Formats: sequence, structure tokens, C-alpha cells
Amino acid sequence: MGAEIVNVSDSKDFLTEAYVTLATNDGYAVGALVLAHSLKSQGTTRQLCILVTTSVSETVRSVLSNVFNHVIIVDVFDSKDSAHLSLLKRPELGVTFTKLHCWTLTQFSKCVFLDADMLAMRNPDELFQYPELSAVADIGWPDCFNSGMFVYVPSKDTYERLLQHAEVTGSFDGGDQGLLNTFFTNWNRVSFVFNMVASVTYTYLPAYKKFGKDVKLVHFLGATKPWHQRYDAQSGTVRTQSGYEQLTPYLNAWWNIYINLVRPKLPEMDLREAARQSFATAAQLSERIGGLGLGESLLEGRARWERGQVEYTGRDSFDNIQAYIESRLKM
Ligand code: UDP
Ligand code: GLC
Ligand code: MN
Repeated sequence: MGAEIVNVSDSKDFLTEAYVTLATNDGYAVGALVLAHSLKSQGTTRQLCILVTTSVSETVRSVLSNVFNHVIIVDVFDSKDSAHLSLLKRPELGVTFTKLHCWTLTQFSKCVFLDADMLAMRNPDELFQYPELSAVADIGWPDCFNSGMFVYVPSKDTYERLLQHAEVTGSFDGGDQGLLNTFFTNWNRVSFVFNMVASVTYTYLPAYKKFGKDVKLVHFLGATKPWHQRYDAQSGTVRTQSGYEQLTPYLNAWWNIYINLVRPKLPEMDLREAARQSFATAAQLSERIGGLGLGESLLEGRARWERGQVEYTGRDSFDNIQAYIESRLKM
């Protein structure tokens, strides 16, 4: 029997601790399923909870209810802040304001929010010992925290104050991260192993070599998600383009869970279609392409990669990578 699917106001569990994630479409819901299986296989003792909007299909919601302890339907919040979002080069991320609903889950005493594009490589349960708001420094601007993972305490009061803050101050990146960072200014920094960005090359390679093996949560930050990649069933590996090799073990781990535990439960699903949903609408894409300097040659792109200047949220996006992979496969 699966978990009951409830509206946010109807849920009444006793106080406990939970991981919380979010999906507003089937693509991110697939990511969330892989994340949940990875947490379970690493032996988490905490509850698993997902916030979904009604744009996640009924079929997928039903599969979610067999894997998560709680599937909670929430309304979409969208910053509609195209000016800041285009600066971030991620026009689709206005809906990440929907994350704010996570503070309403007062049936839990403490939660860890995780983006649906994360994967547990080891059990991260020790995160629950940390106070609100604990997070990892953002690799793009380390004075900010990355909002892909944060430890928080659900509270209706905090929720109301966050909504007010969104109204009055807004978000400097158009998404939840730019909002939360001006609200929680005294955040507690926890180790990078709890939110290691997989989709970049590290310029401090000795540190990656020393600490990389301790990673507990990997984050596939950027427009290209694991479910956008091509899996080669024959070799059992993901085909990554040259320059993205550091991602391979994490992508393979993601796809291994997807193929063995998620796909068999979603026989009717067309992952390519779901991936398109999770990417951007046609209008958003043309906005993105307009602002991205697609004139950059692949060689220039490669050189940028090798200098560690990876625009994981911009030029190195799904469409470009996809086109590149396809051109390589035809060679
Ligand atoms: N998200 C979603 N639907 C969207 C975009 C984002 O449900 O259309 C959720 C999902 O949980 C995702 C998180 O918001 O992991 C943040 O977005 P994303 O991970 O794409 O941002 P990034 O980490 O790449 O900046
Ligand atoms: C960041 C975070 C993501 C957030 C986005 C928009 O890159 O990884 O979780 O939704 O910014 O603020
Ligand atoms: Mn993310």
C-alpha cells in the first residue's frame, strides 16, 4: 500500500524528522524518485516527503506514493521575475519559490530540504543535528549558501515572514536561493560533502582527490540534469561528452538506480518527454538562446571547461550538450 496523497492542510502526522523535496513536473519527479531510493539504500532512518503540484501526472504521483512516506500537494508559487532569472540564465526557475511551502510542514520537528536533482552517495542523516538554517556555501559566490540542501525547522510563522519577505524584498536571482539568502543572513556553514556540485570541474584538484571520496550528497546543479543524458544500455554507462568525465561515476550511479528501481515502475513513461518538461518551455528556450552567445565554438567551450570556467547554468546547457553529443555519436 502506498502513502496517502494529501493536501497540505490535511496532513497530521506526529512530530518527527524528514527529508523534503519538490517536483512541479514529471521530469523532476523522476529525479526525486532516484533521490529517495538513494537515501533508502544508504540506510536513512528519516521520513521521506515530497511536495508536488498538480502538474505532476497522476501516474507519477501514484508511484511517488509507493516510495515516499508523504506526498503533499501544494500550489505553485512563481516569482515571475524574468529580469533576475535571465541574469541567472535559468528562466524556468521562478517556480522554485514553491519550495517555500516546505516551512508549512509543521508535523515534522526538523527537516532537510533536498533539490530533486541530488543523489545520496552515503547516509547524510547527521545533518539533523544542525540548527536552522544550515547549508553549504555556494560555489559561485561562497558568501551565499546554496539552497539545494538546507536544514530547517518548519514553522507557520517563518513561512508567513518568508512570503512577506518575497513580497517586500524579492529575490536577487529570481529563485528561492536569492530570497532565502537575504532572509537567513546568519546561516551555519556545513561541510561541502553535504552538497557537492557534480557538474563543474574543480580548480582545487588536490582537495577533490582528498575529500571527494567522503561525499554524501551530490548535486547535479545546472540546466543539464541526469535525466537529460543518454544512457547506453549495452555498456551500462552514461555517454558524457569530453570535458564532462568527472561527472561519469555520479551519472552512472544515478542511472543505475533509475534503470533498476524507477523505470520498471513507470513502464508507460517517455523519459525524453518528461525531460523536456523539466527543461523549459519553447518561449523560455528562445529567451535562453538569445542571451547565451550560442556562437561560441565547441573548441572555445572545451577550453573554457579546461580552465574550470564552466557555465553550468548557461552555455553548458542541455540543448548545447545534446547537440554536441549527437554530433559526436554520428561521427
Ligand atoms: N524544481 C521543480 N520544477 C522546476 C524547476 C525546479 O520542481 O521546473 C525544483 C526541483 O526540486 C529542483 C529545484 O526546484 O531540484 C531547484 O531547481 P534546479 O535543481 O533545477 O536548480 P539548480 O540547482 O540547477 O540551480
Ligand atoms: C541555485 C540552487 C537551486 C535554486 C536556484 C534558484 O542554483 O541550486 O536550488 O532553486 O539557485 O534560486
Ligand atoms: Mn538543484
